[in-house]
Amino acid sequence: VSNMLIDSFGRQHTYLRISLTERCNLRCQYCMPAEGVSLTPGPQILSQNELVRLANLFVSSGVNKIRLTGGEPTVRKDIEDICLHFSNLKGLKTLAITTNGITLARKLPKLKECGLSAVNISLDTLVPAKFEFLTRRRGHERVMDSINAAIDLGYNPVKVNCVIMRGFNDDEICNFVELTREKPINIRFIEFMPFDGNVWNVKKLVPYAEMLDRVAKHFTGLKRLQDHPTDTAKNFRIDDHLGTVSFITSMTEHFCAGCNRLRLLADGNFKVCLFGPSEVSLRDPLRQGADDHELREIIGSAVKRKKASHAGMFDIAKTANRPMIHIGG
Ligand code: GTP
Ligand code: 5AD
Ligand code: SF4
Repeated sequence: VSNMLIDSFGRQHTYLRISLTERCNLRCQYCMPAEGVSLTPGPQILSQNELVRLANLFVSSGVNKIRLTGGEPTVRKDIEDICLHFSNLKGLKTLAITTNGITLARKLPKLKECGLSAVNISLDTLVPAKFEFLTRRRGHERVMDSINAAIDLGYNPVKVNCVIMRGFNDDEICNFVELTREKPINIRFIEFMPFDGNVWNVKKLVPYAEMLDRVAKHFTGLKRLQDHPTDTAKNFRIDDHLGTVSFITSMTEHFCAGCNRLRLLADGNFKVCLFGPSEVSLRDPLRQGADDHELREIIGSAVKRKKASHAGMFDIAKTANRPMIHIGG
């Protein structure tokens, strides 16, 4: 139908990632510079009412999955109410979160009651001292507790996002895979991507082929699973393991052809590609009284301008984008 979010390459967009805040309780090196980033003043951040109005508009345009991101989405005080409103939108099938897991164990029971249906937790090392180095904060044990809390609450699989950086945690790949033997988790190894302020370097990128090779050499019975066309991950199982293993290959084998994702940033800017620098404000027209029809026009024309794929890792690294902390992945 006419108001569906279909781009000029025929890709329908059914997945909206919404950043609820630019704030975070960690300071991960791959996400932001040591000095931090400038924060958008509070009044310019989308309010709960504005979020619900826009989410409703997107869902009535074919979006059936919303992921809450940040910053760290759980630091937003009204996250429970936001979940309640979103999960009541007719047509929404999945309400997911990507979180660092620092406070999740405590908050998850309530969030589940409010309709949160899927949980992805970031964890890049199994060594507490390395966690402190990477995140510039403490909290390794709390993240582990959150992973277990999510499993105990019945989330299945609990996805664990692990950004692999050469010389930092590439020696831990098989230890992470080992966790899948007994736990119903999906470990996802992510190729390190360049964002403003994260000192990306191709030498730190461990290519998918190399990660896969290490896992295949160490574990017998590794089998590729059928992926969904819109999946960000290439998925595998291992004989006798309860969990699964995946690779997110944004740099060496991008998956843009099946992209179904759009992004709404905390400041109300709308982004049609993670690496596309162009953004358009939805907050400004909304605050100037635009009706749904006018907002749909702005959204629809941005979607029509979406490129077939990102520009390749070296061009991406040179192009000004936002820091990851503002985009939310
Ligand atoms: P599922 O919905 O559970 O499959 O999760 P997801 O992979 O869509 O989202 P998540 O927040 O867990 O992100 C995992 C990794 O995939 C992060 O490094 C994201 O930056 C990356 N990612 C998510 N969406 C996209 C995308 O549209 N393009 C690219 N290149 N990477 C993405
Ligand atoms: N490269 C790859 N993945 C990243 N993430 C954050 N920064 C990067 C990066 N530079 C991941 C986080 C989180 C998800 C939203 O994106 O670990 O799991
Ligand atoms: Fe979609 Fe852009 Fe990610 Fe490619 S890089 S999958 S087009 S968001």
